[in-house]
Amino acid sequence: MPELVIASQLNADFNALLAREIPDATITPVPPGAPESVPEGASVLVAVPFRRAGAALPRRPDGWPFNLRWVQLASSGIDFYPDWLFEGPLVTSARGTSANALAEFALAAIFAATKRLPEIWIDGPQRWNPIPLGTITGSVLGLVGFGAAGQALARRALALGMRIVAVRRSGVAPEVPGVELAPDLETLFGLSDHVVLAAPLTPETERRVNADLLAQAKPGLHLINIARGALIDDDALLAALDSGKLSLASLDVTHPEPLPDGHPFYRHPRVRLSPHTSVFTPDLRANLALKVAANLNRLRQSQPLIDLVDRARGY
Ligand SMILES: NC(=O)c1ccc[n+]([C@@H]2O[C@H](COP(=O)([O-])OP(=O)(O)OC[C@H]3O[C@@H](n4cnc5c(N)ncnc54)[C@H](OP(=O)(O)O)[C@@H]3O)[C@@H](O)[C@H]2O)c1
Repeated sequence: MPELVIASQLNADFNALLAREIPDATITPVPPGAPESVPEGASVLVAVPFRRAGAALPRRPDGWPFNLRWVQLASSGIDFYPDWLFEGPLVTSARGTSANALAEFALAAIFAATKRLPEIWIDGPQRWNPIPLGTITGSVLGLVGFGAAGQALARRALALGMRIVAVRRSGVAPEVPGVELAPDLETLFGLSDHVVLAAPLTPETERRVNADLLAQAKPGLHLINIARGALIDDDALLAALDSGKLSLASLDVTHPEPLPDGHPFYRHPRVRLSPHTSVFTPDLRANLALKVAANLNRLRQSQPLIDLVDRARGY
């Protein structure tokens, strides 16, 4: 069998994890970005996003796709990669490797909003007055997208006694018992106390959270974005927050990233902004290494790879 060479754009810690999972492979670090070349004999590339949200995509390098048979992305979304990456080799996404982290992050936002963190923490007896709090039990969680992240969140939220409604592209019956499908986003926004965006950025989803949709929102809705900033029309969101239609927006992703200095999201009293940080948990890279190893076994046995990207579908 020819030597297996994996070109990796990830760091030494990930490469060590990968070497442990695939001991017969030679793992060669390559710089992030569009690969101008890959090591001779490399048939696999593990690629990190080629750009940040809102930045330009790199041109196709001469010689692409070299001798690559398979590209494993380090992200679930494919919008950070150019079209040419998908021309030639098989491409699989990192779908699922951060689902638990995303679910926990969305729950943290829901708890913070409902239990009024951090403002309930006091610093002296002059503030010793009970503060009315909300309840999570019985509240309605709307999920835009019901993939790896949406399902991980639904399982946890059901255990908290939330009612879950979801919208997904395919309309396939939810894999998690107890989750209801809403007929459309307008219905979902009208029913929900918290809406979590967990769908890819595609032509259908881009700026889909716009003024018309927000006008249908249940008053006081809390919007949480763990997917991509470009799903939201920012001006429409700011207007909905200013009018009080929405009570809060918890945004871990924006368009562009980072937001420029002075952007209203930095200081808006109803925006909780974090720097695209929800997935940075200790298990992230170990999960990816396990995924690469599992798919490599499948490739070697001529079985279909898991989470092959469907470029036309957009995820
Ligand atoms: N913050 C981060 O660092 C981070 C990390 C991971 C992922 N993400 C983002 O979150 C997204 C979801 O992640 P995931 O791992 O759960 O992806 P996934 O497993 O591929 O799930 C995507 C879900 O979105 C649904 N969808 C696609 N187009 C839609 C549309 N037009 N309207 C409604 N739903 C639609 C899909 O529907 P079907 O089920 O019917 O196919 C599927 O349920 C990714 O695409 C990525 O952009 C962000």
